[in-house]
Amino acid sequence: MEPNFNFWDNMAKRYPRFNDISMSKDVNHIINWCQNRNVSFEGASILDIGAGTGTIAIPLAQKGAHVTAMDISEGMLAALNEDAKEQGVSLQMHTHQSDWDSFPLSQQYDIVIASMTPAISDLQKIDKMLGATKGLGIYVGWGKYRINKLVEALVKAHIIEEEEDCASAGCIKAAQFIDILDERNIPYESSFFETSWSETYSFEEAKEYAYDQLKRKEIVPNEAIVESILSENLDGDKVQVTTEAEKGIILWRVA
Ligand SMILES: C[S@@+](CC[C@H](N)C(=O)[O-])C[C@H]1O[C@@H](n2cnc3c(N)ncnc32)[C@H](O)[C@@H]1O
Repeated sequence: MEPNFNFWDNMAKRYPRFNDISMSKDVNHIINWCQNRNVSFEGASILDIGAGTGTIAIPLAQKGAHVTAMDISEGMLAALNEDAKEQGVSLQMHTHQSDWDSFPLSQQYDIVIASMTPAISDLQKIDKMLGATKGLGIYVGWGKYRINKLVEALVKAHIIEEEEDCASAGCIKAAQFIDILDERNIPYESSFFETSWSETYSFEEAKEYAYDQLKRKEIVPNEAIVESILSENLDGDKVQVTTEAEKGIILWRVA
């Protein structure tokens, strides 16, 4: 289920930029894995669906690709445009703000990419993604697990059974994407890797983070509960939020 509030614009204030150390490690892993399979990004036209702050779009533009970065969030694309300008790749970057459903697909791209985005949340959206490439496609999704102990504690304290893990919220997991390629008889290569990242927040920032995470799960935050859980997780005057996860990369080529 998609959040009906400006979750992603709020998230844009905290979402890692392309040069964040943990994020770059994952992105370099993904790009190297593709390059080791003879994928060349130089000069390629690329559509990045749910591009966020440009964590993948900017490194690909730096490799000489022409990237169309589409995203539903104005805040995410503002960060992307700022960094693209600073990195001198604005001319290779075209941004488009819309929901993937309503994105006007007027051409096929050499490469289509979607990474960790709920833009790809059902069969219709996957089929639109499959049709967007004349060359190859790359999907990056959650693997078997995603552990964020702070969010788990917040949800548990609100005494609500967590029906879906926090990784889902509309995202198609890598294994589900593979099932769909199998059903369509589309050959692919895939690889899974483990990753982790930490964010350090002030108490007020952590409160905003906690509220966003709960509202995303359609849980009405209780201020006293949130403050109590955050207090238990205080280290000095900061709250550190660590996530450990498995991610899967899937690469397919148009025959
Ligand atoms: C977790 S971020 C991933 C960003 C980037 N692809 C990455 O791997 O770091 C998810 C992104 O998907 C975008 N998004 C969510 N729903 C979307 C939709 N329906 N259409 C387009 N973008 C969407 C959000 O705004 C956000 O920027």
